[in-house]
Amino acid sequence: MGLKMGGGIEGGCWCTVVVFCALIIVSGATALSGGSDECDLYSGSWVYDESYPMYDSSKCPHIRREYDCIKFGRTDLNYLKYRWQPTNCNLPSFNGEEFLSKMRGKKIMFVGDSISVNQWQSMMCLLHTSLPPQSIINFHDNITTSTTTATFEDYEVSISVFLSHYLVDIVEDPNIGRVLKLDSITNGNVWKDNDVLIFNTWLWWYRRGEKQPWDYIQIGKSVLKDMDRMVAFHEGLKTWANWVESDIDTEKTTVFFQGVSPNHYNGAAWNETGVTNCAKETVPMCGSTYPGGMPMAEMVVEQVLSGITKPVSLLNITTMSQLRKDAHPSRFNGFRGMDCTHWCVAGLPDTWNSLLFAALV
Ligand SMILES: *[C@@H]1O[C@H](CO)[C@@H](O)[C@H](O)[C@H]1NC(C)=O
Ligand SMILES: *[C@@H]1O[C@H](CO)[C@@H](O)[C@H](O)[C@H]1NC(C)=O
Ligand SMILES: *[C@@H]1O[C@H](CO)[C@@H](O)[C@H](O)[C@H]1NC(C)=O
Repeated sequence: MGLKMGGGIEGGCWCTVVVFCALIIVSGATALSGGSDECDLYSGSWVYDESYPMYDSSKCPHIRREYDCIKFGRTDLNYLKYRWQPTNCNLPSFNGEEFLSKMRGKKIMFVGDSISVNQWQSMMCLLHTSLPPQSIINFHDNITTSTTTATFEDYEVSISVFLSHYLVDIVEDPNIGRVLKLDSITNGNVWKDNDVLIFNTWLWWYRRGEKQPWDYIQIGKSVLKDMDRMVAFHEGLKTWANWVESDIDTEKTTVFFQGVSPNHYNGAAWNETGVTNCAKETVPMCGSTYPGGMPMAEMVVEQVLSGITKPVSLLNITTMSQLRKDAHPSRFNGFRGMDCTHWCVAGLPDTWNSLLFAALV
C-alpha cells in the first residue's frame, strides 16, 4: 500500500492544518476496503507518496514542449510525488499491459481541446514506459480528420486524439466568415467509429478578440455577433448530448465526458488573494475541498449529463484538479509564457488516466 506518512506531512501539508492532514492519511490507511462498487473514486485528497511519479518523463519520447516541464527547467519536483487517495478506497494503479490486453482490438479516442491532447500525451507516456522496448507503436496523423493516432501493434489497440475546440462545428460562410454553429456536429461520424470516447470542451468558450476562432455564432435561426458565453456553452453541450442520444450505440461504444479542467490564475480561489498565477505554487491544497467552489461551467456539464438517458460517465476530475495549483507548467514550457491552464506530463493527467483505467478495466 505504501503510504509514506512522514513524507506526507512534510511534503504535503504546508498549511496550518498539518494535524488535519495527518488524520486524513491515517484514516485513509485504516479504512481501505479495496474496490467496492460503491466507492467514490472522485472524492479524496492528495497524499505524498515516495514511489511516485508513475514514470520518468525523460524516458517518454512523445511529450510536447507545452507539457514537458522538467525539460524546460522545472526543478521543484515535489509536484510529481502526490498520489490521489479516495476517501473510502484505493485507486487501482495504472497497468499498461493490463489496459492494452483488456482493450485488445479496440479503438479509443479523446475528443476535445488541448486538455484532451494533454491527457492523450500522458496516456502515451504511461503506456510507452510500461511496455517492453521492442513493442511497436505506430504514430499516424490524419489531417483530414484532425486526428493523431497511436497504434499499439501487439495489442491491435489504437488511441487517438481528435482536436475539436467546441465539439460543435465552425463553418465558413462565404458572406460573413466563420460561424460557430451551436446546433451542428458533423465530426460525429468520425467519432462514433470508436469503442471508447472521452470528450471534453471548455477552454475556448470565453475566448475573444484575436483568440476567438469564429466571427458569428448561430443558435437556431439566429446568427449573432456574440451572446452570453455560458448560455452558448450550455447549448453546444446540449447538441452534443442529443447527438449521443441519436447516434451512439452505447452497447458498442463507451462514452465518457471529462469534467471541467480548472485553471489557477485567481489566488482568491485558493485563499491567496492578490496572486494572479501559479508561478509560486509547489504543493497541492490540503484536504478535499477547494475554497473557490465548483466552477459554473462544471455545473452546466453535470446538468447536461444528468439529462442524457444513455449511459455516459462523467470523468469527474474537477475538484481533484482544483486542489493541484502546483501541477501546471507555469513558466516551464517551451511554448508561451505563464501557463496555469495545462498540466505537466508526468503529473496530474496520469491520475486522470488511472481513473479511466479503473473505469474500463
Ligand atoms: C464530482 O466530484 C465532486 C468531488 O467529489 C463532487 O462534489 C461532485 O458531486 C461530483 N459530481 C458528480 C456528478 O458526481
Ligand atoms: C483519414 O481519415 C478518413 C476518415 O476516417 C479516411 O477516409 C482517410 O483515408 C484517412 N486518411 C489517411 C491519410 O489516412
Ligand atoms: C480559506 O479561508 C477561509 C476564510 O478565512 C477559511 O475558513 C478556510 O479554512 C481557508 N481554507 C484553506 C484551505 O486554507
